[in-house]
Amino acid sequence: MNQTPRKILVTSALPYANGPIHIGHLVEYIQTDIWVRFQKMRGNQCHYVCADDAHGTPIMLRARQEGIDAETLIARVSKEHQADFADFAINFDNYHSTHSDENRELSALIYRRNKEKGHITNRTITQAFDPVENMFLPDRFIKGECPKCGAEDQYGDNCEACGASYSPNELKNAVSALSGATPEQRESEHYFFELAHFEEMLRGWTRGGHLQKEVSNKLDEWFEAGLQQWDISRDAPYFGFEIPDHPGKFFYVWLDAPIGYMASFKNLCERTKGLDFDAFWNKDSQTELYHFIGKDIIYFHALFWPAMLQGADFRTPTAIFSHGFLTVDGKKMSKSRGTFIKARSYLEHLNPEYLRYYFAAKLGSGIEDIDLNLEDFAQRVNSDLVGKVVNIASRCAGFIKKRFGGKLSEQLAEQALFDSFIEAGESIASRYENREFSHAVREIMALADQANQYIDEKKPWVMAKEEGKEQALHEVCSMGINLFRLLIGYLRPILPQTTEKSEAFLQIEPLTWQALATPLTNHTIAKFKPLMTRVELKQIESMVEASKEDLVATPSTTQNVTPEGPLTKDPISDTIAFADFAKVDLRIVKIIDASHVEGAEKLLQLTLDLGGEQRNVFAGIKSAYSPEELKGRMTVMVANLAPRKMRFGLSEGMVLAAGPGGDELFILSPDSGATPGMRVK
Ligand code: MSP
Ligand code: ZN
Repeated sequence: MNQTPRKILVTSALPYANGPIHIGHLVEYIQTDIWVRFQKMRGNQCHYVCADDAHGTPIMLRARQEGIDAETLIARVSKEHQADFADFAINFDNYHSTHSDENRELSALIYRRNKEKGHITNRTITQAFDPVENMFLPDRFIKGECPKCGAEDQYGDNCEACGASYSPNELKNAVSALSGATPEQRESEHYFFELAHFEEMLRGWTRGGHLQKEVSNKLDEWFEAGLQQWDISRDAPYFGFEIPDHPGKFFYVWLDAPIGYMASFKNLCERTKGLDFDAFWNKDSQTELYHFIGKDIIYFHALFWPAMLQGADFRTPTAIFSHGFLTVDGKKMSKSRGTFIKARSYLEHLNPEYLRYYFAAKLGSGIEDIDLNLEDFAQRVNSDLVGKVVNIASRCAGFIKKRFGGKLSEQLAEQALFDSFIEAGESIASRYENREFSHAVREIMALADQANQYIDEKKPWVMAKEEGKEQALHEVCSMGINLFRLLIGYLRPILPQTTEKSEAFLQIEPLTWQALATPLTNHTIAKFKPLMTRVELKQIESMVEASKEDLVATPSTTQNVTPEGPLTKDPISDTIAFADFAKVDLRIVKIIDASHVEGAEKLLQLTLDLGGEQRNVFAGIKSAYSPEELKGRMTVMVANLAPRKMRFGLSEGMVLAAGPGGDELFILSPDSGATPGMRVK
């Protein structure tokens, strides 16, 4: 433990400045914050920086829609984001913006250096142009009818009704989502980053221990598909940085976004004596650099980013830590179900440390999705934190205060037990270091069980009534307080606020990992105040209720589309693990009603019976079936598909049909004997 402190720079992905922070985002910021707090507690020099990602078309349009400048919008959102983060105890050392002087300069520098080495090229491309708005249209601002199923009002390059993906120029009767005008094809000069120039370096880098294993495997597929040129320019009007030598052209938001990590750190260095930007970013830097990100943005961080840095003679990251996506009660967060919960809505109902603890208890080092099960959430917080940890202090503190003037005994009753807690600390530390937080939590809770067991055996409440047990009572309760101190010390990265209250109760300095080994003896503690209250189901229910919104179909403006598509959207031909297949809940259903849908060319509305529960589904099978033929038939549905709000109402699943494409379709039927609700496996 007496090594020289490591010098570490840590980042979380920069949230877009056009929307609020929600509990999905918080998976990442909480994960990173726990890791950073742990590093600091270990005595390492660790800097945690972030910023708002303030550029791009969606932000420009959002500002326009609100009738304000983009600058005004991003200033407001930045304030909101920072307030949300602060209230969740996310402790950034700096929070900046990609729309900053530092970022403008660094982006220009990185662009210039890459250009000088021949890594930037230009050519003319053809793109959809909105003649009314006078601007080129990003894919997701073009809408039309799905070329596969005919569903109307489909945006960009995939159909929300049938799930097909296609290129936006295949959409039938395409219109601009902004003006409704028919897009024209126009030419424009664009600038490209030659990713393929870095193929050899990237193949080495992605296999060099900088990525999680499952991520390197995914990258192998991308290498096989071939590294493509990356379009880094956009035409005016665009909210971003103008390309220095090409007026009227702007850097694409994803070019300057990761440079925002550097810019935020640079801004911190400008304000912090002795903190040297170059020492962290020079090619031969001896410091460590880690980026925490979600799995949807791996392409940008594991390919473009190291290549850009290398091309500009900067160091590359030590590692990129990706995490999975949050689901709530096993399903994608949903506004209609009330599970798309904003950070602010959560805070209005619940203690932020509950969520920090629950995420920690679920997070591992991999990229699997993590599920917030609301019942399990309440149960775990109540039984672990309130029932086990806080309880130890409250069981012992009263006696210390009343019988011993608040002073702890001069020696420990049970040195061996104390030592075994200290020994367990090293394993817990390595769990934190390796981002295996769920294991860390499990080990800490096993210690909490031991501590409670110790008190149960010694029964201080009995001792207190017996004569001649004064000293034993003093030592047992002091021992209990000491065990509590170790537990709270180990939980400190996860529960900063409860720890702070506990430190005030114990009247001690902020705990470091090293300080834990010295027990607290002959020391006066303060009066015990309840440290944490139980979660009530009512609080959760009212949070969900308050989060329910009517869904309006709008283009997703923050979707991260990588050239190969996000990791979450694999081509169908890829093999999947059994566990992935098992996520699809296929059920036998009976079609109890079927009818035409007014205004829909291809859809029928079906009422499905799942054996007790009924579902409303819009199916694109009108070309092949009349409602009459369907009534009373059995078929198979995907029962756990996230509900979709369509123009005609909410569709709560999908029925399965086979076909060669076009209008020919065959719905599936089970063999006789199958009954509604049976699971297909
Ligand atoms: N602006 C980009 C990142 C630029 S980094 C140079 C971006 N912003 S975002 O607001 O969409 O997402 C910010 C981070 O939150 C990303 O790492 C993303 O993966 C993560 N998450 C967003 N929704 C999430 C869940 N539902 N679950 C877990 N993480 C999620 O991407
Ligand atoms: Zn479709």
